[in-house]
Amino acid sequence: MTLLDGKALSDTFKQTLTSECKTLKEKGVVPGLAVVLVGSDPASATYVGMKERSCEAVGIRSIMHRLPESTAQEALLSLIDTLNKDPQVDGILVQLPLPAHLDSDAILEAITPCKDVDGFHAINVGKLSQNLEGFVPCTPLGVMKLLEAYAINPKGMDVCVIGRSNIVGKPMMNLLINAGATVTVCHSQTKDLKAHTLRADLLVVGVGKPALLKADMVKEGAIVIDVGINRTDKGTLVGDVDFDAVAPKCTFITPVPGGVGPMTIAMLLSNTVHAAKNR
Ligand code: GUN
Repeated sequence: MTLLDGKALSDTFKQTLTSECKTLKEKGVVPGLAVVLVGSDPASATYVGMKERSCEAVGIRSIMHRLPESTAQEALLSLIDTLNKDPQVDGILVQLPLPAHLDSDAILEAITPCKDVDGFHAINVGKLSQNLEGFVPCTPLGVMKLLEAYAINPKGMDVCVIGRSNIVGKPMMNLLINAGATVTVCHSQTKDLKAHTLRADLLVVGVGKPALLKADMVKEGAIVIDVGINRTDKGTLVGDVDFDAVAPKCTFITPVPGGVGPMTIAMLLSNTVHAAKNR
C-alpha cells in the first residue's frame, strides 16, 4: 500500500507557482485573488485563512472581504460587480456555504467566468462537461493531479464516485469520464452502495461522513481517494474512509489530513496564476 502524499505534491506545485509569480512580477503583474467570506462559520473561516496564507506564500496578493452574516444579496452582487471590473483581481472566490438567506446560485453566476477560479460558474461547468478548456473545481482537479503524479491512469478503470455535489462529485465524474474511466456516481438515494463500491478499481469518496467507506466495501487492490474533512469530538480531522481498516486492502490511498486537502489549495493558487497570465 502506497500513501498518496498530497502535502508533498502540493509543495512541489507551490514551488513552481512561486517562480511563475516571480516571472509575472518582472512583467509588472501580481496575481490577485479576491476571497469573500460571509458570516462566521468556523470551518469556512479556517479554510479562508489557509487560502489567504497560501496565496501570500507563493506571491499572489489575497484581497479579503469578510462580510457580516446579515449581508444582503444586492450588497454581495454589488461587491462581485466591483471585483469583476477590478483589473488587479484575477480570481474571485466566494466561500461556500453562504448563509441561507442568500441565493448562492445567483451569486456564483454573477462572477465573470474568466475570474471564476473555483470553476463553479455554469459556463465553466458546461465547458468541463464538454471537455473544453475552462476553470476546473479545485478539489477534483487536485485529485486528478495526485493520480497523475503517481502514474495512475484512470483510463478503462471502473470508478465509483460517492457524493454528487457540484463542488466534488459532479466535476469529479466529468474529469474521470474525460480521462476514459467508466464512472458510477453513488449518493444518499443509492439503493445498494456496497454493490457499486465492490466493483470499483478506483473509489473517490466525498460526502462528509466519517467511516462511510468500510473495509468490506472495498475490492482487494483498489485505489481509494478520500475527499472528506470531518472534525471529531476530540478535535482531530478524519476523512470519509475507515482508514485503518481500508488501507491494508488498497494499492494506493490518500491520508486525511495530508491527502486531497493540500491539493485543493494548490489548485486554487494554480487557477489564479493561470487567470493572471490571461490578463
Ligand atoms: N466550500 C467547500 N469547498 C469549497 C471550495 O472549493 N470553494 C468554495 N468557494 N467554497 C467551498
